[in-house]
Amino acid sequence: METKIFKIDPSDICDGSISDCADIIRRGGLVSFPTETVYGLGADATDASAASKIYAAKGRPSDNPLIIHVASPADADKYAYTDELYKRLADAFMPGPLTVIMKKRDIVPDGVTGGLDSVAVRCPSHPIAKALIEKSGVAIAAPSANISGSPSPTLAEHVISDMSGKIDAIIAGGECEIGLESTIVKIDGDKLILLRPGAITADALRCVCENVKISDAVTHMLAENEKPLSPGMKYRHYAPSVPLVLLEGEADKVLTFLHNAQNAEKCAILCYHEEFEDLRQERLIDIGAQEDLSTQAQRLFAALRDADKLDCDIIYAHLPTKDGMGLALYNRLIRAAAHTILHVTSASVIHHKNH
Ligand code: TXA
Ligand code: MG
Repeated sequence: METKIFKIDPSDICDGSISDCADIIRRGGLVSFPTETVYGLGADATDASAASKIYAAKGRPSDNPLIIHVASPADADKYAYTDELYKRLADAFMPGPLTVIMKKRDIVPDGVTGGLDSVAVRCPSHPIAKALIEKSGVAIAAPSANISGSPSPTLAEHVISDMSGKIDAIIAGGECEIGLESTIVKIDGDKLILLRPGAITADALRCVCENVKISDAVTHMLAENEKPLSPGMKYRHYAPSVPLVLLEGEADKVLTFLHNAQNAEKCAILCYHEEFEDLRQERLIDIGAQEDLSTQAQRLFAALRDADKLDCDIIYAHLPTKDGMGLALYNRLIRAAAHTILHVTSASVIHHKNH
């Protein structure tokens, strides 16, 4: 299949290209489009056969449900049974990087929800995503537009490299601002269960709902037979093809470790901006200043893809803290590293730790 590329400037949206892409969606085809979080791979959310093409293009297990994207927060009610807590979340955070799981209505086919009786709904704020959903006239089911298991795409070139020849069209609309996927919460009575951390932090959610529980799977490895609340949590994710190891320890010891590693092995390093000048300028990727979690979030997936292309045997990155936006970085990195964490106590003594 030939994949059409439409280049659209988010600040000057060309109606013609959006109409062409909306036609593709309405005819049951696949279009990748930018959102404020990551690029999505979209299909008509009410068309089971269109949604099945998403699974085929990504190589995604069919029990892993999709998020459906709506043009306005109120549209959620066409697809899910919304309640008062949903309305409060919508008022506070939508449009934006929040996905809410609620009981689904019949209009959403089982093929979109992996057979679950719930559906995940999100209203993106990105002008291109919004225009495409509006023009299509239906909700758009869209997972991240990467091959299953690899880092989510934050640039059109990532989508082109993963999806060319497999989908109808790609809207190239620049870099995604946030860089990590949306925060996912499930409404459970008057309680919220945080299933995937993102730019809307647990503390921000607590301003709207007192009772926010962070699912164990956010920070821990699931046991072989454990059933996650969100099917996506059990799959290996964001993983580069060479091992990724996360480093934890005092800053000077970690820096010494990295110096030694550069001499001893072919390693790529995702370093903080402050460390960049101190390390050898070889296979080195600046992930942003240590305190600047937003920049680290925006750069992370591109950095993992870039590191993977460097000729290296291992990739090192810092283990983030679990505070605020750090929890989202932590969650993605421990999955990418298959929970491999090195606690650097001195340059020479290293303990392996599996969380
Ligand atoms: O930012 C985002 O959320 C991006 C953009 C494109 O909107 N989308 C995205 O979709 O990250 P995806 O498919 O890569 O991740 C969706 C996650 C999966 O882990 C899936 O298991 C979970 O949401 N999910 C979807 N529907 C669910 C449901 N009904 N119950 C529990 N988990 C659900
Ligand atoms: Mg994904």
